Amino acid sequence: MDRPYRITAIIGTYRKGGMIDKATREVLRAAEARRNAKISRIYLIERKIEFCTNCRRCTQETGENRGECIIEDDMNAILDEIDRSDAVILASPVNFGTVTAVMKRFVERLICHARWPWGANAPKPRNGGKDRHVVILMSSAAPSFLTRLSGCAAGPLKDAAKLMGAGGIDMMFIGLAAGKKHPSLPERAKRKARRIGRNLS
Ligand SMILES: Cc1cc2nc3c(=O)[nH]c(=O)nc-3n(C[C@H](O)[C@H](O)[C@H](O)COP(=O)(O)O)c2cc1C
Repeated sequence: MDRPYRITAIIGTYRKGGMIDKATREVLRAAEARRNAKISRIYLIERKIEFCTNCRRCTQETGENRGECIIEDDMNAILDEIDRSDAVILASPVNFGTVTAVMKRFVERLICHARWPWGANAPKPRNGGKDRHVVILMSSAAPSFLTRLSGCAAGPLKDAAKLMGAGGIDMMFIGLAAGKKHPSLPERAKRKARRIGRNLS
């Protein structure tokens, strides 16, 4: 039997059943229809993820594999899961112009995927020849085109995708997402989410 195609969704919402959760589930439902898909959903708010302390120890290590982070929390287990994944979904509402705080905290911890020796001005992603499919999903009160045009909104998720060794990136922005307490995913967004999900192979 073929090895399963592993998809991990990293979800930076503060509530289940909201717009970004629904969009993520729609993508996963379509992806699940494919043969032999193994799916996992990680709600960052349910995990223990400490702040990066900027000790930079993880960035001093050489090689293509991520450097070891000395903080003892759930991050290493999440990173192991991502390492085993063929595709990763990064999903976040837009709060104050960019990803949620819980997602930002997660993204900062991805610095272990970069090499940044003391003396160098900037980090360089380590990923050598990985070809992971990354999907970025964002929801906002503002119309989707404004979020798409904003350099800040998806910036941290694009950086995260690079650090994870993204081969291809699909992006989807859902605008006008804050009108209802219990929002439903608009039909157009459903169609796009299904397309993206089917494309995960
Ligand atoms: C604290 C806070 C800040 C927000 N900031 C923005 C913002 O800067 N731009 C925007 O378009 N929407 C903003 N929103 C609206 C959220 O993006 C919207 O409610 C969210 O996409 C819904 O996602 P959810 O249903 O998954 O929770 C904000 C919402 C909250 C609660």
